[in-house]
Amino acid sequence: MLVTGGAGFIASHVAEAAIEAGHDVLVVDDLSTGRTENLPTGADFHPVDIRHRDVFRELALHFRPDAISHHAAQASVAISVREPGYDAEVNVLGSLNVAEVARETGSRLIFASTGGALYGEVADGVAAGEESPARPLSPYACSKASFELYLKAFGETSDLNYTILRYANVYGPRQDPHGEAGVVAIFLRRLLRREPIQVNARDRLGDDGCVRDYVFVRDAVRANLAAFEGALDRRTINIATGIGTSTRMLAENLASLVSHPAIVRDGEHRAGDLGRSVLDPTVMTSILGDPTPLAEGLETTTEWFRLESESS
Ligand SMILES: NC(=O)c1ccc[n+]([C@@H]2O[C@H](COP(=O)([O-])OP(=O)(O)OC[C@H]3O[C@@H](n4cnc5c(N)ncnc54)[C@H](O)[C@@H]3O)[C@@H](O)[C@H]2O)c1
Repeated sequence: MLVTGGAGFIASHVAEAAIEAGHDVLVVDDLSTGRTENLPTGADFHPVDIRHRDVFRELALHFRPDAISHHAAQASVAISVREPGYDAEVNVLGSLNVAEVARETGSRLIFASTGGALYGEVADGVAAGEESPARPLSPYACSKASFELYLKAFGETSDLNYTILRYANVYGPRQDPHGEAGVVAIFLRRLLRREPIQVNARDRLGDDGCVRDYVFVRDAVRANLAAFEGALDRRTINIATGIGTSTRMLAENLASLVSHPAIVRDGEHRAGDLGRSVLDPTVMTSILGDPTPLAEGLETTTEWFRLESESS
């Protein structure tokens, strides 16, 4: 399996699981946000930018993958707003280089798309299903939605086998706590250092904050492996739990797991943040079984961050 973005959070878990399942794994990552420490033992790593079409193509043609798990991306909504051209260069043009290689080598292409950003604001009481209209509100969501359209067009006009995985808010070990997203990692890092954490308002200062569908990274990995085996060919599926959790509820859960009192501050609403994003996991559940319960995923993640903080 060729794993793009495999030095990053989610794809390093995909690469690790593929190696454990006995597959040869080639990781391509330009280390713009990824770290070599994330790379699993046994992966063949090349620090290559997917925008460099010829270098990427030569490497991939030499490896001749059965499947490409494509996770390399400009993955920050905030950066996409500041630099929409850069976002499109990586997420559209870079991704097209990956798709061309998949077509040339006859590899399955698994694409890490975003349910969290793609469906836009999801009303209270509703979970966005795969048939819900795309309402991209950021350049990041536009570039992901755009590459989905390319894949569907290539699927119609060639024998490219693709799977589109629309992730909700993925959390788990190795998530980067330094960005503006990844609230589980950010909160855990701060809680373990006994630093205050902040709940940004959904509407008004002091409310419970935005609502998100937090899905454990293990479930994203299971979906990648199922797609790799051909169980999800030409499907677009949400990888989610269908359960909405407010930022305050998340903060309370994590505070109880680190088992010391948390200092929780209230922040204003952050411009551009969706108030609520919850996805319908019915299709995923029917194929892959139930998602990991939040309590179990948060416990495993807390343990990892605890060990990491003790060793640093
Ligand atoms: N984390 C989430 O909740 C979430 C939700 C929906 C979708 N996704 C998607 O899943 C994928 C992985 O996200 P993540 O959270 O692990 O982010 P991440 O930033 O940890 O991983 C992205 C990886 O891509 C690499 N990369 C970036 N630009 C590249 C380029 N031009 N060439 C080669 N490598 C490049 C980075 O160095 C990094 O290792 C991304 O495509 C992201 O859009 C993530």
